[in-house]
Parts: sequence; C-alpha cells; structure tokens
Amino acid sequence: MHPSPVKLTSFLLLSVFAFVRGANVTDVALVQFYLWGAKTPTSLQFAAPVMAKGENDLAPYKGVLNITRVLIYDRNVTTCYEIDKKATFWATRYYYREAVGNPVTGIFGPGCPSAALSVAPLARAWNRPMLATTWGDYAFSNKRRFPTLTNFSPYIDYNLNMFIFRLLNYFSYNTVGILCDDANDNLSLYVPVCTNMFDTLRLTYNFSASRFYVNATDENNVKHYLEEIRSIARVVIIIAHGDRIRPIMLAAFDKQMTGGDYVYFTIELFQSTKFFGSIAWNTGDGDKRDADAQTAFRSLFKISLRSPEATPEYHNVTDEIKRLSKTRFDYTYATGEDVNPFAMANYYALAAYAQVLNETIAYGGNPNDGANTSRVMWNRTFTILGQDIPINDNGDREADWTLHQMNAETGTFMPVLEYSAKRKVLEPSREPENHSIRQIVWYKRDSPPPNEPKCGYRGIKRACEATKEHNQYQQLVAAVVNLFEVIKGMLA
Ligand SMILES: *[C@@H]1O[C@H](CO)[C@@H](O)[C@H](O)[C@H]1NC(C)=O
Ligand SMILES: *[C@@H]1O[C@H](CO)[C@@H](O)[C@H](O)[C@H]1NC(C)=O
Ligand SMILES: *[C@@H]1O[C@H](CO)[C@@H](O)[C@H](O)[C@H]1NC(C)=O
Ligand SMILES: *[C@@H]1O[C@H](CO)[C@@H](O)[C@H](O)[C@H]1NC(C)=O
Ligand SMILES: *[C@@H]1O[C@H](CO)[C@@H](O)[C@H](O)[C@H]1NC(C)=O
Repeated sequence: MHPSPVKLTSFLLLSVFAFVRGANVTDVALVQFYLWGAKTPTSLQFAAPVMAKGENDLAPYKGVLNITRVLIYDRNVTTCYEIDKKATFWATRYYYREAVGNPVTGIFGPGCPSAALSVAPLARAWNRPMLATTWGDYAFSNKRRFPTLTNFSPYIDYNLNMFIFRLLNYFSYNTVGILCDDANDNLSLYVPVCTNMFDTLRLTYNFSASRFYVNATDENNVKHYLEEIRSIARVVIIIAHGDRIRPIMLAAFDKQMTGGDYVYFTIELFQSTKFFGSIAWNTGDGDKRDADAQTAFRSLFKISLRSPEATPEYHNVTDEIKRLSKTRFDYTYATGEDVNPFAMANYYALAAYAQVLNETIAYGGNPNDGANTSRVMWNRTFTILGQDIPINDNGDREADWTLHQMNAETGTFMPVLEYSAKRKVLEPSREPENHSIRQIVWYKRDSPPPNEPKCGYRGIKRACEATKEHNQYQQLVAAVVNLFEVIKGMLA
C-alpha cells in the first residue's frame, strides 16, 4: 500500500511544519500494538507494564521530547491469528484519523510475526520507524523491503542458527539429524524453527543435515526416527515442546543411544513452563523411569538465551515492572519468574529510540524521517540497564546465548558455554564463587564423541572391514590356541 501523491505531499508539508514547531519540544507518539491477555510473551499483561516503566524512564528527555503513548488493542483479540486480520486496519485508522498534529511516530509491536509483516510495509510507506520484538522469521530481515524496521527481538532465526553453527563447529561437528516435534498443538512454534535450521545449516554452513518430523507422543514413531538417525549422524538436535524431551530421551535410552556415542541438543529460549513446557528428567517417578531419564539426560545439552547481566539497574527496573504488573495489569509474577526477554525487549527498543531521537534533534536532523532514525539505530551497540544490546548493520538485534548441561550430581542444568554477540566469542562458563572454568562432562568419555565413528555410522566402512576380518582371524587363532590349552590340560 502506497500513499497517493496528494497524501504524500501533505505529509511532507506537515512534517516540515512539525519540525519547525518542534524547535523546543518535539511531540512524539509511541504507537503500541498489543494482544489482549497473556497468551504470548508479548501480550499486554507482559509487555504493557514494561512499556509503562520504559516511558517513565524517559523523563530525562522531557525538555526535548513530549511523549504520548497510544495503546492499540481489543479485548477480543488475544491471539496472533486474530490480530492478523486487524493490524493493518488499526494502523491505518490511527495514522489517517487519530494522529493529530502529525507527531513523530514510532510503531512498537505487535508481537506476532505475520501481523508485524503486514504493518511493516505501512511503516515504510509512511516513513515511520517500526520497532519489532517479534520472534523468528527471515522475512523481517529483508531491509530492502522494510527499511524502517528495526528488530529488537532477542530471538531471530538466523541468529540462533549462527550460534548453533559456531557451537557445533566448536566440537568439530558438521553432521546432524534434526528431530522436529510434529504434534499439531505446537506446529506454529516449532515447525518454522525446524525448517529454517535445516535450510541454514545445509545451505549457508554446508552441514550434512537431515530432518525428521516426529510425533513425540508416539513412542514407536520416535524410536523409528532415532533408528534412521543412527545410520546417518551422532549429533541430534531436538526441536520440541519441553514436556516432550523426556519421552524422546527415554526412547533414545531404550535404543541404546545414550551411552556416550551420541550428543543431543535442545532449545529452550527461556524458562517458562507456560510457554515452552518443562525440560525435566524427574517427574515424580510415576513411570519408574526417572533413573533412566537421568542417565539419558547426561548426553543432553540445552541451548538458551543468555540471562541478562545481574546489574542493579536491571533488577530495580524489573522489580518495578513486576510491581506495576500486579497493581495495574492484574498479573502476578511467581517467585523466581523473570520478566521474559521478549517483553523486556520493548524496554530496550524504547530507550534506544528515545536516545536516537534526542541525537537526531541535537544534530539538527529530521526526527520525522523514519528511514533515517532507523539507520542511526543500526550497526551500533546500545548500553541499556547495564546490558549490551547490539543491533547489527541489517537492523537486527544479535542475542547472547548459553549452552547448559545437567550437573550429574545435582541433576540441574548449569551453563557450560556462553556466546557474547558483542564480542562474537564462545567461551566456557565460570563458577560464580571462584571464577574457575566449568568443564563440560562427556558421559563415559573425556572428549566429545566423534562426528562420525571410526567405522562409519553403520559400522561398515571399508577401512574398518579389513581390520575386522583381521580381528576375526586373530580371534580364530586365539580360539584354536585355547582349545589346544584345554586339550593339553585334559591330557595332562
Ligand atoms: C540529549 O542530547 C543532548 C545533546 O547531545 C545531551 O546533552 C543530553 O544529555 C541528551 N539527553 C539524554 C537524556 O541523554
Ligand atoms: C504534548 O503532547 C500532547 C499530546 O499531543 C499535547 O496535548 C500537549 O500540548 C503537548 N505538550 C507540550 C508541552 O507541547
Ligand atoms: C467481543 O466479542 C463479544 C462476543 O463475541 C461481543 O459481544 C463483543 O461486542 C466483542 N467486543 C468488542 C470490543 O468487539
Ligand atoms: C561442503 O561439504 C562437502 C562435504 O563435507 C565438501 O566436499 C564440499 O567441498 C563443501 N563445499 C563447500 C562449498 O565448502
Ligand atoms: C501422535 O501419537 C499419539 C499417540 O499414538 C496419537 O494419539 C496422536 O493422534 C498422534 N498425533 C498426530 C498429530 O499424529
């Protein structure tokens, strides 16, 4: 959708007008789309208190920016599917009918991929910056299509795949089997992750990757695909709801694929039973298989977004967000529950946007030029609440990642490797007490199992055949000798 030439002209006049009038304070409208409720990590109950706190914290800009929040939501619209049908209508209505006086406008949200993809072309046509905190999707990264879109999401597909590539490379792996949970209740979440990972590992990183859609609630189905993987890889990436990890690992245990020759990786962006289920071996032993599961989990690693640096600023702000959440948004955080990184991304987006507007105005730039303000946000690292928030030269946030391994004694997952996006390095985690390096423990061995066993995945490599025959001959000779000994013994 492009504005007609007439509208474009009047828009330009208005923006010049706004800019002149804004010699002292510039009116800024923060247009925020929400899903009502708490069904997604960026729904109103999670994101709105973050935005409220974020806006409060922009008080130091008062002399420069006159900020208004415009909240757009509907109590009946609580899912991504529902907002898909509304988002462009809401954005258009606001822009043409309600944006009085043509304020500088930043568009935040909606936290749904397809709705964001339908608002982003409008943001481009209106030359307004859009700050997304939506997960996933490659399409967002095409900035020729969306030159005013900056993605502050902590999780973007290609970024996870880049981390997985570095991680596997670190262990000298380049052959993987990807198990994708196909149970239809989680399709929208896990299948796109699988598709993108499979494509990226093969096409971008030249890995040998195979992908299997598995019904993780069907034991025989899981075992069938594990057998397929046995003949092609020793590294297995499981993309599945957290509750399905234990059954899959138990199936691997039953197939004797958890004895130290195989390595499993799974992904839990952040801990949340509500959104991702729970990756646990201990489920109260109702099925008498906790011990087996615990053994199987010794071959399992978990990939997560790295927890924020524990700075006092960060804690003060999140404590205040939790308080606001309880008093004004009817959501009470459980003890130990963190403000999720997708909701928190709104805070960083807001802080970065205000900083960039303030700079633009200070340098005499036009704060109404969305393409320009977006460009100024790219290829730099913001420091907000003591956290590094790197935005790459394509306008996408790069996340920090952590690899966790279950501690065999305590049975809980602990970080063992950490990736810093700012420094682009993968480093061992350290013990909090004495800062010594936390070693990765390889089950029944002292180094990672090889990418491919000496005799190949099926144990029938040519090179091995020869030695095998040789071994058989030696065994035969040994048996004859033994027989001799026995006969000799009998004779004596
Ligand atoms: C806004 O920009 C001005 C000029 O660069 C600077 O002096 C001021 O500290 C900035 N305000 C904030 C809150 O960072
Ligand atoms: C700030 O913006 C609001 C809403 O657009 C407007 O009513 C108010 O007059 C503005 N305040 C200043 C100081 O410009
Ligand atoms: C929400 O849905 C209910 C029932 O479908 C309807 O009665 C109500 O008018 C709707 N509310 C809004 C704000 O659209
Ligand atoms: C990709 O990997 C294969 C097998 O590992 C290798 O033969 C090939 O040269 C690689 N291609 C590129 C472009 O690196
Ligand atoms: C997965 O397997 C379970 C158990 O066999 C079955 O009840 C369910 O319908 C299957 N789901 C799909 C999507 O095939």
